[in-house]
Amino acid sequence: MAILPIVTYGHPALREEAKPVEAKEEIRQLVENMFETMKNALGIGLAGNQVDALKRIIVIDLSELDDYKDQKPLVLINPEIISQEGEWEMEEGCLSIPIVRDIVTRAEKIRIRYKDINFNDVELDADYILGRVILHEIDHLNGVLFIDHLPPGRRKFHKGLLLDIKRGELEIPYPVMTGFEHTT
Ligand code: NI
Repeated sequence: MAILPIVTYGHPALREEAKPVEAKEEIRQLVENMFETMKNALGIGLAGNQVDALKRIIVIDLSELDDYKDQKPLVLINPEIISQEGEWEMEEGCLSIPIVRDIVTRAEKIRIRYKDINFNDVELDADYILGRVILHEIDHLNGVLFIDHLPPGRRKFHKGLLLDIKRGELEIPYPVMTGFEHTT
């Protein structure tokens, strides 16, 4: 297993649409590395784009949260939202946008379809934090970030910090790859 650098705000991989995984693709090593990378950064969800692997793969582990102690780690391959209902607000953060946190409105209950690690079809109903993390990570696969959901005033509020992240001027306690490094 290996800890991969997490790409941070400003890196082009965060703005690209990840490609569906094909049944024949060997992704087990990548998935293991994504879990290792997420755990090292104390994250609860990670999408392919965040490790510069433009594949529709999400890993989630909520077992450190009191409400999800018994929740097994999840691997969602090629996830699709079937339905969403209701809405609720909660503060979010993102390993690719360190320190920045803000309140995001998302659906309360969702139903999704995905392939598991053995490429079997699975349907899942999710709500509360699990539902939110799934929606946040599916956004990543589509090149969307949580800050895109904020009102303009709030985005403006975070502008200075976002610029610091882009320039690689923040100290981040896990390996990262900035957009700045990418373009130089
Ligand atoms: Ni994120």
